[in-house]
Amino acid sequence: MSKVTVVGAGNVGATVANVLAHKDIVKEVVLLDIKGDMARGKALDSWQQAPIDYYSTSLVGTEDYADTANSDIVVITAGIPRRPGMSRDDLISTNAKIVTSVTKSIMKHSKNPIIIIVSNPLDVMTYAAHKASGLSDKRVFGMAGILDTARYRAFLATELNVSPKDLQAVLMGGHGDTMVPLPRYTTVAGIPVTEMIDKDKLKAIVNRTKKGGGELVKLMGTSAWYAPGAAAAQMVEAIVKNENRIFPCCARLNGEYGLKDMFLGVPVKLGANGIEEVLELKLNKSETKLLHKSADHVTAVMEVFNKMGVA
Ligand code: NAI
Ligand code: 2OP
Repeated sequence: MSKVTVVGAGNVGATVANVLAHKDIVKEVVLLDIKGDMARGKALDSWQQAPIDYYSTSLVGTEDYADTANSDIVVITAGIPRRPGMSRDDLISTNAKIVTSVTKSIMKHSKNPIIIIVSNPLDVMTYAAHKASGLSDKRVFGMAGILDTARYRAFLATELNVSPKDLQAVLMGGHGDTMVPLPRYTTVAGIPVTEMIDKDKLKAIVNRTKKGGGELVKLMGTSAWYAPGAAAAQMVEAIVKNENRIFPCCARLNGEYGLKDMFLGVPVKLGANGIEEVLELKLNKSETKLLHKSADHVTAVMEVFNKMGVA
């Protein structure tokens, strides 16, 4: 049974820990935050839910990295979220330092963990954590695609008046407004979505998905946490159970899709070793163009990070 550390006990981190505890698939979840008492409080609150919801996962809250020793999987959610009017990229100056220092502290206590990044700007924070960890690129990746496709699937389910369970979709690119939902790979219980919805409605849903994070920031004054937390927990589950699930994740590209030395959302196979395989779809010309445009955007933010000289 595994040990999972979640760094950042804020909205997303606490949700990841709570959803994971409910899944009852790992022995221990350590919730670490610079605000140690808040982490301790949320861990205790989640543990007190166990007799009601029937799980045995133990939960520990802390500010001390010694408690994270020998973690199998680490989910990093530490950092600031965006406020109305901000883009995810505006968070880089604060979050790059946080994610780098958190990753280094984790590596002092765990030899070969799998690290899942959630902090934004996601693609570049995954790049930063990979650099700081010294781990294989199969063991450091980011959560965004599961969330973005979930939003796309939820919007489609509402429009078509069908269960969200029956929506399958692929979405690629960076976690930002340049993300690339792929209608050609979207089905409703195996039926191509294009047979069930007219073009304009589908286009509107694709556009709403691209701005899905911003829609929630406008409503709540901060970013989302239920779906993001559940998405990260689903990635942990695929690893712990060695499921070989196919998910869109932010992974390092080594020539796939004509892109390399960067992290970007692509479909991957997720199992016990982390990324077991990056899947290379046969994109058409216009899909490839959109993906490369998204990659250019991520590369520009990567350059900002490189110039910061965070070490
Ligand atoms: P939040 O403000 O509720 O929680 C962040 C927590 O990080 C706070 O409790 C804070 O004390 C902690 N923290 C800050 N510096 C730390 C450090 N050095 N070590 C340990 N803990 C530290 O924010 P929320 O809503 O949980 O979002 C967290 C991050 O996740 C943000 O950057 C947000 O943009 C990102 N996010 C990414 C998503 C994705 O799809 N990848 C989805 C939702 C949020
Ligand atoms: C989201 O998409 C803020 O990246 C986060 O909700």
